[in-house]
Amino acid sequence: MQLARQACATLVVAAGSSAIILACGQRGDESHVKSGVAADSFQVSPQPLGPIPPDDSLARPKSLHQIGVPIALTSAAMPRDNPQTPEKIALGETLFFDGRLSANGTVACASCHDPRLAFTDGRPTSVGIGSRVGQRNSPTVLNALYNKFQFWDGRAPTLEAQAALPIVNPVEMGQPTLDSAVAHVAAVPEYRERFRRVFGRPANGVDLVRAIASYERSQLSFDSPLDHFFAGDSNAIDASAKRGWKLFNTQGRCNKCHAFFDTTSRPSTFTDDTFHNIGVLIVRHRVVELARQAEQLVKRGDTVAIDQAAILSPMSVLGRFLVTRKESDMASFKSPDLRNVMVTAPYFHDGSAATLWDVMDHYNKGDGVHNPWLDVDIQPLALHERDIDDLVNLMAALTNPSYRDLAARELARQRQLSRTSRPQRDSARAFGPKPVQPKPP
Ligand code: HEC
Ligand code: HEC
Repeated sequence: MQLARQACATLVVAAGSSAIILACGQRGDESHVKSGVAADSFQVSPQPLGPIPPDDSLARPKSLHQIGVPIALTSAAMPRDNPQTPEKIALGETLFFDGRLSANGTVACASCHDPRLAFTDGRPTSVGIGSRVGQRNSPTVLNALYNKFQFWDGRAPTLEAQAALPIVNPVEMGQPTLDSAVAHVAAVPEYRERFRRVFGRPANGVDLVRAIASYERSQLSFDSPLDHFFAGDSNAIDASAKRGWKLFNTQGRCNKCHAFFDTTSRPSTFTDDTFHNIGVLIVRHRVVELARQAEQLVKRGDTVAIDQAAILSPMSVLGRFLVTRKESDMASFKSPDLRNVMVTAPYFHDGSAATLWDVMDHYNKGDGVHNPWLDVDIQPLALHERDIDDLVNLMAALTNPSYRDLAARELARQRQLSRTSRPQRDSARAFGPKPVQPKPP
């Protein structure tokens, strides 16, 4: 097997003698794509898992009184069978930061959803127990309560169903079963007491994921400059972000997928809650072959098997197809909400875009020549450099005040990087005609 990069070779050695290499996570390197799920060998990150982040002020439940909170949408997001109470939310918060949910005590939910990084981990793809690397980028938990589906491929319908999966995933928290996580927790007298107080019965898996989901439903994040602008403060965003907002809804075509309207004429969440193939890396993967394998290896509706295929096998690239088996869902992923996106780099389901400028270059060229499943709304955009800067400034204006300083630093860092490194830029295509799309094989 040919290895294009030194970093990749290191990972292969670390993965042991097994013939199956999961991935090297490098754009442009096809050599790593191998078939099959390796049950006994895992890729280990050269940047090991760090200590569990602190449960500090950034982690606290958020106020409902923020400019821009969509009232109807928020009450619709609260399930009847798991009502919010302050004690339950607090129990969920403690659990979210507790390594004891993992097999060896080292990984908490917060390890990959760090409040200091808007509940992401700053890595292209996440690193879990034993510093094992997964295939997907960690999305924010802020405003996840509004998601119609959880995960990039939507394989979990609720926050409760979602929370159970990382606990038993072998590259995340590594427990053999949810009950064994419960056993760890129930060994602690304080937890026994708190579960009994909140749920009126001994700790169990159902209540554990309910408490965590309740905590997540307290993580509303609005009050951004754009929310203030929508609310009537015309000075809340600068002229560049205003041009960006116009482009977002016109030439940039972003509103086709990143806008959900509640009762107002302004989007409240910046996602349509559906799945699209926007051409991220698709050409480099042998999608058809992987799809055939998925048919054989992963039973439809087997959530744990789908979870493992998505997180630790090359089948990850199949996206929504892994869940539905519909050809139209091939390599399609959920449109993520764009709130706080300035502080959640790197981007896309595989972390393959380092900056928002790279994301913009991707859209500008209408990536996906040779991609038969590309969404009809992806096409060359003919955006000039100033337009791209305006769209990035618009996205920066979607930051909650608690991340204002971080966002300012990150905007400066990414801008600086974008002046020297533009791996995704292709001006000829950006200003050329829409390529003829091939038919699916
Ligand atoms: C090892 C890192 C890691 C750990 C530990 C982890 N997650 Fe995640 N989380 C991820 C990644 C990566 C994804 C995206 C996976 C995918 O979409 O296939 C994700 C997705 C999610 C999502 C879906 C968000 C969305 O927009 O779709 C939620 C909610 C979430 N995690 C909450 C949790 C909770 C709760 C825990 C603890 C029980 C947890 N995570 C533990 C890495 C991790
Ligand atoms: C056809 C639907 C569609 C259109 C049009 C679209 N997006 Fe997206 N966007 C998506 C999907 C789907 C993803 C996730 C894709 C993936 O990770 O493979 C995404 C991802 C992103 C991300 C990465 C977010 C993250 O957390 O990783 C950003 C930023 C983004 N889009 C901004 C924009 C902007 C700005 C525009 C307009 C120039 C735009 N999008 C147009 C569907 C779309």
